[in-house]
Amino acid sequence: GASMSSPPCPSSSPAIPLSQEDLKKIAAHKAVDYVKSGMVIGLGTGSTAQHAVARIAELLNQGELTNIIGIPTSKQTLDQAVALGIPLSDLDDHPTVDVAIDGADEVDTELNLIKGRGGSLLREKMVEASAKKFIVIVDESKLVRGLGSSGHALPVEVVPFCAKNTARKLERLFDGCKAEIRVCRQRNGEPFVTDNANYIVNLFFEKGIGNLEAASERILGVEGVIEHGMFLGMATTVVVAGKSGVTFLDK
Ligand code: 5RP
Repeated sequence: GASMSSPPCPSSSPAIPLSQEDLKKIAAHKAVDYVKSGMVIGLGTGSTAQHAVARIAELLNQGELTNIIGIPTSKQTLDQAVALGIPLSDLDDHPTVDVAIDGADEVDTELNLIKGRGGSLLREKMVEASAKKFIVIVDESKLVRGLGSSGHALPVEVVPFCAKNTARKLERLFDGCKAEIRVCRQRNGEPFVTDNANYIVNLFFEKGIGNLEAASERILGVEGVIEHGMFLGMATTVVVAGKSGVTFLDK
C-alpha cells in the first residue's frame, strides 16, 4: 500500500486532548511504578484498575517484573488476571499485601474514599485493609469536597435475607437519606448479586453524610449489614490524572 507521511507538526499546534480513558490509564501506569519484583499486589476492580492489571501483566511478560503474586479484589479482576497470566493467591495464603492499587468513585480532601459502585467493595476493603501501601488511581472527576454530596450513592453490602427491611433501617439512620436495593437491568430488575452472593443497598444523602466515622459505625451497627463503601483513612497515596498533568496526594 501507499505510505503516507504526515507533515511535520508545528510546535504551536494544540495537543490532542486526553480522554477520560487516557487519564485513567496514565494514573494506573504511575501507580504500577510502586510495584517491585517479589511483591504481593492487591489487584483492584473497575475500569481504572483494569489498566493497572494490564500494565502489571505487560511488565511481567517483558521480564521487568518477576516473582510477583496478585490478590484479586473481585471475580472480574480474577478473570482478567488469569487471562493475562498473572500468578494469583489470596489473603489466606498471603495475609500481607505489599501494595494494593485500585480506583475509587469519590476522593475527598482527606483521602477518604467512596468505593463500590462497581459492587466489589467487600473484597476490596478486605484486601486493601491488609496492604502496607494502598495506592488509589483516579481521573480528576473523582475529586470531591465532601463524600456523598454529589448525588451519587454510598453502596452498602447486605445479606439478602429481608434486605428490604435492612434498607429501611439504613434509611432511618440519617435525615434526608434514601435507600434503594441495587437492581440488575440485564436481569429484569432482579437484585444485583455481589461476588459474595449478597445484595447492595445504595444510600443517597440529601444533606450529606455528616461525620464519616460516626456514619460508618451507625451503618455497621445495623443487623444484616456486612460492609459499606466508605474507605476512611485507608489510602496512602492518591494518583490523580488531570488534563494538565498527574498529581500525587499523600497522607
Ligand atoms: C468497584 C470500585 C471501583 O474502584 C470504583 O467503582 C471506580 O471504578 P472506575 O475506575 O470504573 O470508575 O470501587 O467496586
